[in-house]
Amino acid sequence: MLNDSIRYIANQLYCDEVSVQSIADKIGTPVYIYSLKRVLDNLARIRLAFGELNPHVHYSAKANASLAVLHTIVKAGAGIDAVSGGEIYKALQVGTKPEDIVFAGVGKTRDELRYALEQNVGWFNIENVLELQHINDLAAELGKESARVALRLNPDVTAATHHHIATGHKAAKFGLSIETVKEVLAHRDQYSNVRIEGIHIHIGSQLHDTEATRQAVRVALDCIGPYPDIRTFNIGGGMAVRYSPEEQIPRWEDFGAAVTPLLKEYEVILEPGRSIIADAGILVMSLLYTKVQGGEPIYITDGSMAELIRPALYEAHHEIMPVMKTSEAVSQKAYHVVGPVCESADALGHDILLPELEAGSLLAVLTAGAYSMAMASNYNQRTRPPEVVVAEDGKSWRLARRRETWDDLTATEII
Ligand code: LLP
Repeated sequence: MLNDSIRYIANQLYCDEVSVQSIADKIGTPVYIYSLKRVLDNLARIRLAFGELNPHVHYSAKANASLAVLHTIVKAGAGIDAVSGGEIYKALQVGTKPEDIVFAGVGKTRDELRYALEQNVGWFNIENVLELQHINDLAAELGKESARVALRLNPDVTAATHHHIATGHKAAKFGLSIETVKEVLAHRDQYSNVRIEGIHIHIGSQLHDTEATRQAVRVALDCIGPYPDIRTFNIGGGMAVRYSPEEQIPRWEDFGAAVTPLLKEYEVILEPGRSIIADAGILVMSLLYTKVQGGEPIYITDGSMAELIRPALYEAHHEIMPVMKTSEAVSQKAYHVVGPVCESADALGHDILLPELEAGSLLAVLTAGAYSMAMASNYNQRTRPPEVVVAEDGKSWRLARRRETWDDLTATEII
């Protein structure tokens, strides 16, 4: 989707004040380009949407953990939601205060827990009773007075989203069941080196309704009702972005309005990922070849599922647009846009309306800031693309990650 930062000026695609073509001319393709201005706008809009609750925003680094992105967000006062030792490490590298880091995840290793305790991270979101025991033991071993813990509840609600990114139904691997949360709370004095002071939910990503969230909040409130010292409520992330003009999604204000009456008495934590970075980013690629197979026109580009796996993995739709718009008079056709990777699933989009373009023309995949580079791989021994950031002033740009080289591909290997 186009927006205030990613838009056409005189038929040329721009990221803020910088023409996309001019970046691609210097850096080559494929390349990810992010508007830091849009990132900050999104952060501000989220804060506004939950205004009265005045939530602590912990950006979910899994959406895009590039240092330049993390740094911009942390500088603007947000904390980080990390799901691995690596994400904690990167968060600390950009100057996140340890107490502003929430450590979540369904399978934290003892080494990761130890590292997080040593670094004094602010919160541990617990998803397993044995994990709670590990933290309790490690805190004693490390002489940490007490670790602050939130129990991640699986509230058994089914979110309206793709089944691969729904996390709050009973059979999902995430969180502790309602019974387990109640049980742990009833026996919390067994864990003398931890302070269980919060409750955490995250029922899914790209949520298409607010009611399931409300329901999940109610279930959680019921669990913590008897424990008035539990004062922090982490409602996770999941706010949706529009991937196409037709997609109907709740406004972020609707999420705010849905939970505000229930949570006024609590310190609220939010963990938005996609909503902050998705529409601030594009993946720019070059058209390599055109083909017609079985009567269907195909554009083959130098971008692939290795750089953006969402269409292959979730049948996700992304808009794909020419960087240089042709005149309105040129007729458009529905193309399959595919990459060079040896997989039938390797497509960036199907039935994408595009004009006839020559090899070498640039195409931009929109709303590609979240879960793109973060999920990119070296499959087929492709080098991962560079990342460019357009600065907060909207005018200057710079390389934030260089393109990988073939030497990078072999750097960690031993013959
Ligand atoms: N908090 C927790 C505990 C999470 O598991 C997630 C995402 C978030 C926050 C951030 O959710 P967001 O605001 O970004 O929706 N790769 C998938 C999305 C996976 C989301 C995993 N958890 C995709 O490309 O759609």
